[in-house]
Amino acid sequence: MQKLTEAERLNKMRQDFVANVSHELRTPLTVIHGYVETLLALHAQDAQLADIFTNMRQQTTRMETLIEDLLLLAKIENESSRAVFEPVNLMDMLALIREDMQHLGKNHQLIWQLDPHLELLGDAAELRSAFSNLITNAIRYTKAEGKIIIQTGPGYFKVHDSGIGIAPENLSRITERFYRVDKGRSRESGGTGLGLAIVKHVLLRHQAELQIESTLGIGSTFTCFFPKNRQK
Ligand SMILES: Nc1ncnc2c1ncn2[C@@H]1O[C@H](COP(=O)(O)OP(=O)(O)OP(=O)(O)O)[C@@H](O)[C@H]1O
Ligand SMILES: [Mg+2]
Repeated sequence: MQKLTEAERLNKMRQDFVANVSHELRTPLTVIHGYVETLLALHAQDAQLADIFTNMRQQTTRMETLIEDLLLLAKIENESSRAVFEPVNLMDMLALIREDMQHLGKNHQLIWQLDPHLELLGDAAELRSAFSNLITNAIRYTKAEGKIIIQTGPGYFKVHDSGIGIAPENLSRITERFYRVDKGRSRESGGTGLGLAIVKHVLLRHQAELQIESTLGIGSTFTCFFPKNRQK
C-alpha cells in the first residue's frame, strides 16, 4: 500500500513537471514562430533563404503541436474528475475534422459513413482530439491513394485503414506515451508517439473502450465504443 502511494506521488511529480515545462516553452516558441514568419515574408524572393525559413516554420509548428499534446495529456491525466456530460453533435464536429483532413491527406481516399442519429455526451474538445488523432494516424500510416473509412454507428466511432498495419507484439504497447513501432519511419513522418496516449485517456474519461484490430501489411481498425450513458 505504501509502495503504491509512493508510485502515485512520483507519477504526480512527473505529470506536474511535464505540464510546467510545456507551459513555459509555449511563449518563447510563439515568439520564435512570429520572427520566422516575418523573415519568411521579408525573403520570399530569395529561394535559398525562403527554403530555410519554410523549414524553420515547419519545425516550430511541429514543436507547438508537441507542446499542445503534452499539455492536453497532462490535463486529462491529472484530472481525476470525469469528463463532462454535454451533448456533442458529432456530425458538426466531424465536418470540421473533415475540413482539417483535406489538407493532410495526400491522395488518400477518405470515405465517410456517418450515422446522423449518433450523439454523444461528453467533452467536445477532448473527443475531437481523440477522433482527429485516429484519423491522422490512418492517413499517416497508409500509403497515398490508400483507402480509409471513417464510420459512426450506434454507440461507436470507427476508423478503418488499408495501411502498414501493426504486428501483434506491438499492439499492447502502442497506446503508451512516446511509443512508436518504427522510430525511423515515425521520425520521418513527424510523429512523437503521444496521439494514442491521448486517445486512451480521453476514452477512459468517457468510460469508453478502444478496440484495435490490425494485420501487418493489410491495415488496421480502431473502434471506440461508448457506453449507453454516454449516448444521447
Ligand atoms: N493506423 C495505424 N496503422 C499503423 N500503425 C499505427 C497506426 N496508428 C498508430 N500506429 C503505430 O502506433 C504508434 C503510436 O501512435 P501515436 O498516434 O501514439 O503516435 P505517432 O502517430 O507516432 O505520433 P503523434 O504523437 O503525432 O500521434 C505509431 O508510431 C505507429 O507506429
Ligand atoms: Mg499519431
